[in-house]
Amino acid sequence: MSLSTRHLLGIKDLTVDDISLILKTAEQFKEVLQRPVKKVPSLRDVTIVNLFYENSTRTRFSFELAEKRLSADTINFAVSGSSAAKGETLLDTVRNILSMKVDMVVMRHSASGAPHFLANHIPAAIINAGDGVNEHPTQGLLDAFSMKERLGRLDGLKVAIIGDIMHSRVAMSNIYLLNKMGAKVTVCGPPTLIPKYIRESFGIEVNYDLKETLEWCDVANVLRIQLERQNQVLFSSLREYNIAYGVKKSLLDSLKKEIVVMHPGPINRGVELDSDVADSKQSIILQQVENGVAVRMAVLYLLSGRNPANN
Ligand code: NCD
Repeated sequence: MSLSTRHLLGIKDLTVDDISLILKTAEQFKEVLQRPVKKVPSLRDVTIVNLFYENSTRTRFSFELAEKRLSADTINFAVSGSSAAKGETLLDTVRNILSMKVDMVVMRHSASGAPHFLANHIPAAIINAGDGVNEHPTQGLLDAFSMKERLGRLDGLKVAIIGDIMHSRVAMSNIYLLNKMGAKVTVCGPPTLIPKYIRESFGIEVNYDLKETLEWCDVANVLRIQLERQNQVLFSSLREYNIAYGVKKSLLDSLKKEIVVMHPGPINRGVELDSDVADSKQSIILQQVENGVAVRMAVLYLLSGRNPANN
């Protein structure tokens, strides 16, 4: 089996079979990562550039580690300290890097659509590591992998996505993926942080009441308030946000069942998520990070052309 696409630009472009294949391959790589020797030769002689035009800790380390575990050669680009700071265009930067015989590009950019633009202009396989407010497909995949691992299925699962939906590429990739895989999605947050026509556009539910949403769901995926993307005041204060939409231990304890809590990181502790929830056994936040490496290994491998089915 091989993927129906040459690049991973967004979950929007994937088929159900693509998603199932990535999740199944990630299970195999997760097994590899439990071994004393965690390295496989699958991407030996494949060269990958990690192009990060925007801040990142988890995603960048996760891709780098996935590449190393697959024995790929890697180079890293951070915009500060690069010629982009001297005014070089994205396309020039990438063409120069590719002329050094690079096979794959992992890219994070603050402009939505930047990886799609590159995919139309260069021959290398491109993996979107987050583009503006558009998509963050590997996060969507690792979230799905983690939900399936913990709860055994995606089909029919009730997933609440809570917080700053408007500015979140993680929300978009989760919504596309969960819709395709038969899960039920409700988004919850202040009306100013939820796009107006999201219900009509995606066929998902909107609930502005946190307690009701938590009572309904099996999984709560809590998102960071993306202050850096908000150029106007969209809620009164972080303290008030926490009172109305912060996920707190007392709230979770008042529910009739134990739900699973997720967060893509970085967490604003005491804003969208209280510390005693983030660090509780209901939270699978660190498992998400762990699973991210296996999921990225699967994506890199399947798009590398090293998958025998691609040749
Ligand atoms: C997310 C991102 O950068 O989109 N983080 C991540 O990749 N784990 C979410 C965020 O920044 O809030």
